[in-house]
Amino acid sequence: MRSPSTILVTGAAGFIGSHACVELLDHGYELIAVDDYSNSGPEVFARVEEIAGRFVGAVYELDIRDRRSLSAVFDRHAVDAVMHFAGRKAVGESTRMPVEYYDTNVGGTTSLLRTMHDHGVHRMVFSSSCSLYGDASRGPLDEASPVRPTNPYAASKWACEQILADVCHRLPEFTVLALRYFNPVGAHPGGLLGEDPSGTPDNLMPYLAQVAVGRRERLHVFGDDYPTPDGTAVRDYLHVMDTVEAHRVALEHLADRPGMQIFNLGVGRGSSVLDVVAAFGAACGSPVPYDIVPRRPGDVSELVADASAVAHAWGWKPTRDLADMCRDAWRFQQLNPAGYARSAHLANR
Ligand code: NAD
Ligand code: WQD
Repeated sequence: MRSPSTILVTGAAGFIGSHACVELLDHGYELIAVDDYSNSGPEVFARVEEIAGRFVGAVYELDIRDRRSLSAVFDRHAVDAVMHFAGRKAVGESTRMPVEYYDTNVGGTTSLLRTMHDHGVHRMVFSSSCSLYGDASRGPLDEASPVRPTNPYAASKWACEQILADVCHRLPEFTVLALRYFNPVGAHPGGLLGEDPSGTPDNLMPYLAQVAVGRRERLHVFGDDYPTPDGTAVRDYLHVMDTVEAHRVALEHLADRPGMQIFNLGVGRGSSVLDVVAAFGAACGSPVPYDIVPRRPGDVSELVADASAVAHAWGWKPTRDLADMCRDAWRFQQLNPAGYARSAHLANR
C-alpha cells in the first residue's frame, strides 16, 4: 500500500479542517476538500491558499450524506486516506436537535465509510471528542476511562467510534485512528485563519475574543463554586495548530498497525476559566471584563487529558501553551473583527 499522499478532507472549510488543510499543503500532500458549508463558507479556501502558497487541489460543495455526489468525487480522484472532520458539534443544540445530530454525525460517517469501501479506500483519521467521557472529574483521563456520553452530540461520536471499531475488526483492510480532542482553541499564527462561529459563540475562547475586540460587553463566567483551585471549571486547552499537526503525524502512522486505535489529544494540563481570562487579558493588553454567573447546565468541573499514549506511540507532543493560544486567537480577532465574511482582507482581494 502506498503511503498516503492524496487526502480527502471532509469538513475542510471548518475551524479545525481549514487549519488541517494548511498543515497538509505545507507538508506536500494533495488535497480534496469537501464541505457543505452548513457551518462555514468557501471564502476560507482563499486564505488557506494564501498561507500555504499553493492551490487547494479540488474543492467540492456537498453533503457527505449525499452518496451519489460523494461517490463521484471518489470516482474522479485516487484518494489514499480520509480526514473526517465534517459534522455538527454544538452540545446544547444537540439536546434540542438529536435527530439532526445522529443523522449528520452517524449517517455522514456511514455514508463516507460505504463510499470509501466501494472505492477501495480504507484509511481514515476520525475527529472524536473528549465529550464522550461525560461527567468525569476524576483527574487526567486516559483512553481506557469509562465512556459515558451525556448528550446526543457526544453519543453520536461514541456511536461513530463503535461503528468504526467494528468495521475495522471485521474487515482487516480498514485502519482508523480516532482522535479524541479536548478543547482545541487558538488560530493560525498569521491571523488569516481562525475560529469564526456564526451567531453568539458557545465556547469560551471565541466569546472572550469578541469581548476583547468590543463586539460583546462582558464575558459570563459560568460558575465559581466548582471544587477547583479558583472555583471555576478546568479544561485542557490545545492549540489548533498542535491539533492539526497531530493529524498530519497520524497519517504517517496509519500504516503502523491494522485496525482501530484511539488517542486523546490534549496538553495534559488543566486551565481554569479565570486562568484563560487572565491569559487572554495579557495577550490583548488589557483585562477582559467578566461577571460570575451560575453554572451552565451540563458543564462538569474538570476535564483534563492523560495525553501520554499519543506521545508514547508517535513521539509527538503539543508544543504551544495557553499564552500562544490566546495570542493567536487575539491576532485573528483583531484582523477579522466581524469574522471572515466581512473582513477587510477579503474585501481588498
Ligand atoms: P466546524 O463546525 O468549524 O467544522 C465542521 C465542518 O463540517 C463545517 O465546515 C461544516 O460546514 C461541515 N459539515 C457539517 N456537516 C456536513 C455534512 N453533512 N457534509 C459536509 N460537510 C459538513 O467544527 P470544528 O470545530 O472544525 O470541528 C471539526 C470536527 O472536530 C467535528 O467533527 C467536531 O465534532 C470535532 N471536534 C471539535 C472540537 C472543538 O472543540 N472544536 C472538539 C472535539 C471534536
Ligand atoms: C470551556 C469552559 C465553560 C463559555 C466543548 C464541548 C466539547 C468539545 C470542546 C467538541 C467551561 C466556560 C464557556 C462562556 C464560560 N467540543 N465558559 N463562559 O464546554 O469544555 O467543551 O468544546 O467536541 O464536547 O462540550 O468548552 O469552550 O464551551 O467551555 O465560563 O461564555 O468555559 O463553563 O467551563 P467545553 P467551552
